[in-house]
Amino acid sequence: MALNSENQADIKLYNKKYFSEQYVDNSSSAIIAIDLNEHVIIYNQSAEDLMGIPSGEVLGRPFAELLERKTGTQDSILLNTLRLGRPYSHIEAVVETPSGMMNVMAYTTLVKDENDNIIGGILTIRDITSQKQLEEKIFKAEKFSVIGELAAGIAHEVRNPLTAVNGFLQLLGKKFNHDKQLMQYINIMLGEISRINHIICEFLLLARPTVPVKRKANIHEVLDEILLLTEGEFLIKNINLVRLYDKNCPLVNIDSDQIKQVFLNLVSNAVAAMPRGGQLSVFTRYDSAESTIHLYFEDTGTGIDQAKLELIFDPFYTTKEDGTGLGLTVSYRIIENHGGKIEVLSTPGKGSTFIVTLPVG
Ligand SMILES: Nc1ncnc2c1ncn2[C@@H]1O[C@H](COP(=O)(O)OP(=O)(O)OP(=O)(O)O)[C@@H](O)[C@H]1O
Ligand SMILES: [Mg+2]
Repeated sequence: MALNSENQADIKLYNKKYFSEQYVDNSSSAIIAIDLNEHVIIYNQSAEDLMGIPSGEVLGRPFAELLERKTGTQDSILLNTLRLGRPYSHIEAVVETPSGMMNVMAYTTLVKDENDNIIGGILTIRDITSQKQLEEKIFKAEKFSVIGELAAGIAHEVRNPLTAVNGFLQLLGKKFNHDKQLMQYINIMLGEISRINHIICEFLLLARPTVPVKRKANIHEVLDEILLLTEGEFLIKNINLVRLYDKNCPLVNIDSDQIKQVFLNLVSNAVAAMPRGGQLSVFTRYDSAESTIHLYFEDTGTGIDQAKLELIFDPFYTTKEDGTGLGLTVSYRIIENHGGKIEVLSTPGKGSTFIVTLPVG
């Protein structure tokens, strides 16, 4: 049977013969089939949604035309399938759809008639965006757990000798407190030890995230406490603080100490991003439908490049000379342990907004 895309009867027959029409129509995968002339003869609803081009403009037209409109190229696994007589499987790609970027998995099949002659090709494109996101989550979780195990081991080994050094240094300080020069050195050493201790503490938080001890708290009071702490720095650094709190925010069940640590890190990151001053806006919004509270930390700082946005939550990723790169990693963990999430929007040269979402109750 030779297929002819100009002949509607042929298309119908083709459909009936090789597909369950219902399957094609209702499939969540985009299905596009072409005949030997490389004209489109099947183009289901999901294909329409994916391409953003209605079937009326595609059916019966050359597939290359659709490609040209959609991608600006003529390179296609479907055309290759037909031309080379070889199907493709598990081709992953990221495509732009009317509803945003989508991760897809594509494969092609050759359609043959009873005599084994090739009469067409089919392209199936499956949306694997949520699967990809899940994979990424698992990958992140695994990375954290490996680091966690390592961290716990190292922290113990390092902490004990450090405590001894710290103790003896303090003793030395007492004994030689008349020697100004020596005292200066000792204080530097004590300062550095406390820095190492700080890193270890953050490390341990990653390793064995302490189960949050949650109590009902007013999120605005928690915020204000942190903003009061950093007020002096805002003044020195010429940073204007704007607060806009949603009065409808109910109490939230949180471990205030842990949440404070998150806020402090977000605020100090914002301050660090505005070396020549700027504005930090902190606002809250209660979403009663979702039963969540959103907290926005918006700065007018340097912003973060698109490519680096993926890295900032990674352990030890830092662009600062004295940074540990654990601040956001720990913050991410804490918010995750509270059943919430942290997101970031950023425009290089304009600023960044970190959005913390916390469930109420
Ligand atoms: N508001 C922001 N504006 C611009 N860049 C930011 C902002 N917040 C974070 N970053 C980038 O993300 C990186 C990682 O941040 P993170 O808080 O994890 O570590 P850090 O601040 O470098 O060190 P520390 O462990 O001391 O917090 C920063 O070094 C910076 O490059
Ligand atoms: Mg930080």
